[in-house]
Amino acid sequence: MNNILTTTIAIVMLGGSAVAQNFLVEPIVGYPDFGFMEEPGTGEGQYTGPVFVLSDQYPDSMPPLDPGVKDILSMDFRNNSINYAVAVRDYIFEGNIRGGDVERDFDLHLNSIGRDWYHAPWQHWGKLGREGYHGLTREGPLSKLVLDKTQTDSSYAYAVGFYNGPGGLTFGKVWPSADQGPDLSSLIAGEGFPEGTIVGKFLFTVLDGSQVNYLTNPLQWNAFMYNCDVPSSPAYLQCDTDTSRSTQKVNLLQMDIMIKDNRAVDAAGWVFGTFVYNGHLPEKHDYSAACEQYQGDGKKWCNLVPVGVMWGNDADNPIGFLNETPSVDSPTIINPLLKQTVINPSSALPAQHLGWASRLNGPADNPGSSCMSCHSTGQYPAVSPIMLTFNPSDMPQGPEPADAEWMRYFRNFKDGEAFDLGRAVSTDFSMQMLKSLQNYVEWRSQSQAGVYAVEYWTDGNVGPVTRGQVTK
Ligand code: HEC
Repeated sequence: MNNILTTTIAIVMLGGSAVAQNFLVEPIVGYPDFGFMEEPGTGEGQYTGPVFVLSDQYPDSMPPLDPGVKDILSMDFRNNSINYAVAVRDYIFEGNIRGGDVERDFDLHLNSIGRDWYHAPWQHWGKLGREGYHGLTREGPLSKLVLDKTQTDSSYAYAVGFYNGPGGLTFGKVWPSADQGPDLSSLIAGEGFPEGTIVGKFLFTVLDGSQVNYLTNPLQWNAFMYNCDVPSSPAYLQCDTDTSRSTQKVNLLQMDIMIKDNRAVDAAGWVFGTFVYNGHLPEKHDYSAACEQYQGDGKKWCNLVPVGVMWGNDADNPIGFLNETPSVDSPTIINPLLKQTVINPSSALPAQHLGWASRLNGPADNPGSSCMSCHSTGQYPAVSPIMLTFNPSDMPQGPEPADAEWMRYFRNFKDGEAFDLGRAVSTDFSMQMLKSLQNYVEWRSQSQAGVYAVEYWTDGNVGPVTRGQVTK
């Protein structure tokens, strides 16, 4: 009887346009899904259609590893780095690309092979919080010229990340219920994320092929974003005074991956990789196999070309340089002295600035950092900033070796080890875990008009972990 009823409801609801908005995908109303969206309704300037639903029914026991994950954990990330990265990319694609309208891809609840993926809670909170089309948060700045020599406007990246089952387990331990605060016991015990955790993240920008050559033939999503980040808006660059938002088409720029792979002993058991979109590739190319089954725009996900992989910070190499403005005339610099970063030598890769001394970083990331430099600061409370400085002229650029204070940000880590040992609890390189804790404490202090002791552990010198600021 119950089943018949459920099926009837399913048919009725799936028949409408609001595929994602039904109690089949969200039987329990848990954490808020997003913070910013057009008003609901059918009137002028209103929206009725699928919206972002947070996947937050975290598992309470370790899910069995998918065969795809086992395969990845048996691949050699050091000597077969690029194939390893592509295997992870394609695992993330499975069941999440539905082959049709790309707007409906990565609705995690609708994974077509029944695989569970999870979002981090509490990213809706604050001015940079999730928007309602895809759960995109406002992330780091895209300064002029960092993406291409024809990039005359700056903007900000908007991004969404997600964790597979083993990653969801850790979120469930820290966040046992939407109705209660976090429980840090597992993190304090140094447990972190289990082997087999895989994390994916997509970064989008409103900048298009007219400024960033390789963003031609784009893969586009809707985003409800700040007008001050949109070059064609009268509010452009006025983030201090104009916090209005509107629906815009944004273009896929970058994909990030993180894999908890215990063989990565120098990086707390993590391997990081990144991809950049290249809209110039022919229909069939070195990285297109996984998408050949899809029609139309679904194929474009495979235009994400591997940039590289890293499994440590090359802590013993203190000679720095920056390549802030890559372009066809000033190509990617591959540093042959690095032993824990591999960069893809393929001509399919658009010119990249990479990170400090060409450690791995993506196009939307700061050229003076690296994936693992920044993520190693994942700890609560965040007693050290994510970077020592954001000012390029203060970053070591050889020939002298960088000093110990700088190299503190390019260390290697044991599993569970915090950036500031004894002063903070490691969130195991997860920045969204850190932000969930920070956002919750901020919300609860405000709503209960009180202060938590933990807020005094930071010496008052560290702000919220953010790469973007909207001051109003
Ligand atoms: C300067 C700091 C910084 C750098 C460099 C950086 N990240 Fe992140 N990353 C963050 C922050 C902060 C978040 C949380 C989302 C946000 O920005 O609000 C994040 C989120 C993520 C997530 C979602 C999972 C999570 O919670 O941590 C992934 C995956 C990720 N980054 C991968 C990468 C990869 C791969 C690179 C290098 C190509 C990279 N990041 C470089 C700061 C950084």
